[in-house]
Amino acid sequence: MCGIVACIGKRRAAPILLDGLKKLEYRGYDSAGIAVSEGGAVVLARRKGAVSQLEFARAYPGTMGIGHTRWATHGAPCERNAHPQTCGRIFLVHNGILENAAALKKECREQGEVFASDTDTEVAAHLIDRYFREGGDLLHAVWSACRQLVGSYAFAVIAEGREEIVCARRHSPLVVAKGDGEAYAASDLGAVAGAGRTACVMEDGEFARLTQEGIALFDADLASVVRDFFPAGEEAAAPEKGTFRHFMRKEIAQVPLAVENTLSGLQNQDISKLIEVLCQTKYLHVVACGTAYHSGLCFKYAAEKLSRVPTEVFLASEYRYADPVLPDHTLTIAVSQSGETADTLAAGQLAGERGSPVVAVTNVEHCSLNRIADFVVPTCAGQEVAVAATKSFNAQLAALYYLAVALARGRGMRAPSLAGLPVLTHEALLAGEGVAAWTPYFTVARSAFFLGRGADRCAAIEGSLKLKEISYLPSEGYAAGELKHGTLALVDARTPVVAVVCDETLADKTMNAVHEVYARGAPVFLVTPFEELARSEQVTASVLIPRCEPAFSPMLSVIPLQLLAYHVALALGRDPDKPRNLAKSVTVE
Ligand code: AGP
Repeated sequence: MCGIVACIGKRRAAPILLDGLKKLEYRGYDSAGIAVSEGGAVVLARRKGAVSQLEFARAYPGTMGIGHTRWATHGAPCERNAHPQTCGRIFLVHNGILENAAALKKECREQGEVFASDTDTEVAAHLIDRYFREGGDLLHAVWSACRQLVGSYAFAVIAEGREEIVCARRHSPLVVAKGDGEAYAASDLGAVAGAGRTACVMEDGEFARLTQEGIALFDADLASVVRDFFPAGEEAAAPEKGTFRHFMRKEIAQVPLAVENTLSGLQNQDISKLIEVLCQTKYLHVVACGTAYHSGLCFKYAAEKLSRVPTEVFLASEYRYADPVLPDHTLTIAVSQSGETADTLAAGQLAGERGSPVVAVTNVEHCSLNRIADFVVPTCAGQEVAVAATKSFNAQLAALYYLAVALARGRGMRAPSLAGLPVLTHEALLAGEGVAAWTPYFTVARSAFFLGRGADRCAAIEGSLKLKEISYLPSEGYAAGELKHGTLALVDARTPVVAVVCDETLADKTMNAVHEVYARGAPVFLVTPFEELARSEQVTASVLIPRCEPAFSPMLSVIPLQLLAYHVALALGRDPDKPRNLAKSVTVE
């Protein structure tokens, strides 16, 4: 994924780059680097670890530079694989994956070129250096190199002796912004926003030349293009943890606000055109990844139950290569917190190409997914910093349930009100703190299970992902009734089982599975609104959440599961905000 930033102007570049990189750290945090140009000479600083490791470079002079925070794809996270990568007079930062890097490297090596890193990126530096030495024009050199590259990239490139930055974009996000005598580029708007600045999201295949005088944009044939720039907004203050130890814990506490803001935002927005299309729809498809996929599963359950419209949920990474069948009158909903997830973007694009209107459910206003969609349904969770999605999941549920209710009512069916959900999530949050007492069972566990039926299964799967992601404890979210068909063999006294039981009509069935795991010695934990179940002798401990319409219950039952993952991660000494090997925004395949 990686985050890139670049700036040229009158002010010192190093602090601008480092502050920008901190805002992009959600995209990767295994190593970081900057290159700053002063009087034509470029100084490079790279370190393994977080952006904070580069603080020593804050004092570097020079008013032009590029920076990078990395999520390793090719090559281990270490200093020599950190960006900027360099060759000759060229320095570049890259977000994306060059799929033909191995073949290009081979060709370069045959010509005697030597590589200093294991990255795919370095080969782009070699190609640009070659063309730059031949022609002397940086923009043309980057363009020529890009013609040889297969894969995805957002590049920012500088050259010794040149007062310009050249950027290129293909299948990776890149925003350029300009102010008074200064120009910027970054992987997202947040890193370049500032009072008085205007910005433009580069299109795929475009190139940009940034100088103190401004920004020139070019299409894939290097013909000049004129694009509208929009106000880049105020510089966002760096998010703060406030009284919380971690962003994740703060963001769980913000769930009720995220739900309330999302619901009231939709009530106050004119989405009548979307509702009209929705009500003519015969089939609903959802494409998404990770937690957003799980919110899609919850939506399927609610939409089918309330409106009887057949709903399919697809992993975006599978959908894009599955040659999907889209019957007439299919509406596709692409769900993504970041709106930048490469697989979700590609899936949404494919659905659009096959004739389906596309609805983007996203949490970031100027994201790529919104730009390819026919309709945008914003979730108003506010910025989410922790890699583990929490409040954004609940906000996605709020938006999707809103659509499910509108669809049902539009088809003349009765559907329950969502109005009480913000208060109920608050109550679930208070009750959910009880899970802290469960942690000793999980810190000694070999693995864990999360069980449920119907909508409860969807919450269980999401709870399991949360635990895996931040505690590294193997865990599975499973259909309670399916356990006995093989998986039960994994259950023993060191396998804590969390059962989610919120649907009264399915409760007895799920409790059968509870009996089965209890009989194998597993400690059992319950998330339920039903007191009598919580008192069952098979149950080691439980959290009582408020009752609500079963179709919407994942909105509440997931909260104790989010808290459980947080407490277990803490007890195991993990950093819940920055789990190993992961990044917040996955902009590569
Ligand atoms: C969840 O905790 C994850 N970090 C991850 O599964 C995430 O939901 C997924 O990568 C999709 O991201 P998106 O919502 O930004 O598209």
